Amino acid sequence: VFHNHLDEKVRPYIDLIDSLRLIGIEKDLALPAIAVIGDQSSGKSSVLEALSGVALPRGSGIVTRCPLELKLRKLRGGGQWRASISYEEEKIQFEDPSLVQGHVVKAQDKLAGKGVGICNKLITLEVCSPDVCDLTLIDLPGIARVPVKNQPEDIGDQIKRLILNFILKTETIVLVVVACNVDIATTEALKMAQQVDPEGKRTLAILTKPDLIDRGTEKNVLEIVQNQVIPLSKGYIIVKCRGQKQIDDGIPLSDAIKIERDFFQQHKYFSGLPDEKKATMQCLATKLTHNLVEHIKKSLPLICEQITKQLWDTKKELTLCEAGPPLETQRRKIYLIDTITQFNAEINQLCSGEVVNKEN
Ligand code: GDP
Ligand code: NA
Ligand code: MG
Repeated sequence: VFHNHLDEKVRPYIDLIDSLRLIGIEKDLALPAIAVIGDQSSGKSSVLEALSGVALPRGSGIVTRCPLELKLRKLRGGGQWRASISYEEEKIQFEDPSLVQGHVVKAQDKLAGKGVGICNKLITLEVCSPDVCDLTLIDLPGIARVPVKNQPEDIGDQIKRLILNFILKTETIVLVVVACNVDIATTEALKMAQQVDPEGKRTLAILTKPDLIDRGTEKNVLEIVQNQVIPLSKGYIIVKCRGQKQIDDGIPLSDAIKIERDFFQQHKYFSGLPDEKKATMQCLATKLTHNLVEHIKKSLPLICEQITKQLWDTKKELTLCEAGPPLETQRRKIYLIDTITQFNAEINQLCSGEVVNKEN
């Protein structure tokens, strides 16, 4: 859907973080990621869908019931769309985009049970395609106001706790999705983001449904987008996704992008917005990638420090078993040392490259 106009320097950072995730380092230290939060039906899945080109389960009521890590990998040398979904011991690979919804629903039913319950176990969906940008996003259950039939009384609190688990980490960029046709200032998701990130340093807000704004409130929405009401240092982006009718009518994403562009160009209030605010999904993808990489760069020195410490601890432990026969645990430790050493070198290189860039 999108072509990444960012220079190729972005890729090594994202690859490095992904390889660290892959060897399970996240158990020991937090890695930068983007978590998507918002009220139920605010448009989270629509935003993710537009970013990934992948049709995710969506609709009214609680649809996302487990955290879903969506890893988008751009195939730069071309190649066919392919994906894999992993959860617990399961890993399924597939090459048909229309199977995504079914696989996600099946995974959720298995982890959270059929019905309306939630679960904090992670589902990972990796999508490789020439048409996506390099991003890793985490979709979280929407904040519900009142429990529905068969939901526990405290479902709202359960969901908030789950969300907090992710957004409390200072390595996480919080992407708050808010619909333009609600009272933005009192949105629960925005309040939660303010709670964990009072200065708004790692919070980015996405305003959806600009086509559904109540008449007479356009000016208020405009002031919010211009960062004049609830200031966030990363600011606001306004996007228009497909509405239910457009989906039911089978309007493809590519057409939706054109419709979105025309909508903003012709809008009485929003047409004057500077390009980087007048979002459109294209702009959002670029801004997110940029933000994630900035965040990774900032986190690298700390990650490096933590890895160095782990390396040292592992080496010390290894010397203790040197006398014995080459045990499986020892072989694993040697492997771990090699891997960590390699990452350490890579991180150092990226860090020092950064310094050089800044000096230039
Ligand atoms: P989620 O619960 O936050 O994941 O919300 P969804 O992405 O499932 O969206 C809820 C409903 O809002 C769906 O019917 C979408 O089609 C609709 N929707 C999302 N974004 C927009 C938008 O920009 N304009 C309009 N008109 N509808 C939208
Ligand atoms: Na929904
Ligand atoms: Mg959803």
